Amino acid sequence: MNPQEFLEKVKTLREEALAAFASAASADELEGARVRYLGSKGALGETSRLMGKLDKQERPEAGKALNELREMISSAFAGAGERLASAPEDGEMLDVTLPGRRVPVGSTHLITRTSREICAIFEKMGLTITEGPEVETDYYNFEALNFPKDHPSRDMQQSLFLEEGLLLRTHTSGVQIRTMEKTRPPVWIVVPGKTYRRDDDLTHSPMFNQIEGLVVDRGITMADLKGVLSEFARKFFSESTKIRLRPSFFPFTEPSAEVDIACVSCGGRGCRICKGSGWLEVLGCGMVDPALYAYVGYEREDVSGFAFGIGVDRMAMLKYRLDYIGRFYSGDTRCLRQFPG
Ligand code: DAH
Repeated sequence: MNPQEFLEKVKTLREEALAAFASAASADELEGARVRYLGSKGALGETSRLMGKLDKQERPEAGKALNELREMISSAFAGAGERLASAPEDGEMLDVTLPGRRVPVGSTHLITRTSREICAIFEKMGLTITEGPEVETDYYNFEALNFPKDHPSRDMQQSLFLEEGLLLRTHTSGVQIRTMEKTRPPVWIVVPGKTYRRDDDLTHSPMFNQIEGLVVDRGITMADLKGVLSEFARKFFSESTKIRLRPSFFPFTEPSAEVDIACVSCGGRGCRICKGSGWLEVLGCGMVDPALYAYVGYEREDVSGFAFGIGVDRMAMLKYRLDYIGRFYSGDTRCLRQFPG
């Protein structure tokens, strides 16, 4: 055998083998081709044995051609294997009539919706939405709201302190001061936002939501406060919802009151939800303590006002009858999905 003939043989074998792997249509056919060309008694081995019939000086070139052939056949084998693995099995076809996979559509969170709904009720009464920072200074969160340093009233507010003089705001009331500092009366604002306390149980979460209200104008009385809050309760719960005010204490209002609504569950007769009293405590309010006017440079004789603070989470729980505040903040959305917004 001369080198010419050997190279011819290599070329023929290459064409045959590549065609066989390219056309293998099943794993069995592929295996057949592998045995035929790459197997121990296969064509490649047979051809390499022919090298022995060449002269010594002809062998390097022949060896090189043979190595190239082995590489080509091996990679054709691997390529055919991949092709078959990714191809559908016999009889398995793409069914274009199957319904597609649904992409879940998001919706407004129940807390966001409740907060917007509450704000909208007050906006109709003439209050304007205003916002403030969640990281607040001691001055706005406490000092200017008439909480003296080291006064026990600060303890009620389970604060989360940051570095010196800063904390996560415990209520939205600080925005009362921030707004009055910048604006002369009349001030009619409603302030939605996140608030934070070291509280964590069935009805408290370390992060929760409040809406603050502040009206400072000429001739504002407690009757205005009660009228605004009665209207709010009627619009938010139902037209027949009654409210009552009970005396209470907040450092920034004098007098102060807690507002109860007639129980949403029993209407006032007494049940498990209202613990038999017929009333549910829903928010705090009062007449702005004139001490605050001194902090913001208002002449206390010229103005009077009222303020209130609403817990949005509590409102949503009462309205939608949820038992556990964690439902709002858990990654498990099965409960919230019942209230698509
Ligand atoms: N800031 C109070 C709290 O978080 C709620 C509150 C009570 C706000 C009375 C007010 C108010 O504006 O007048 O507990």
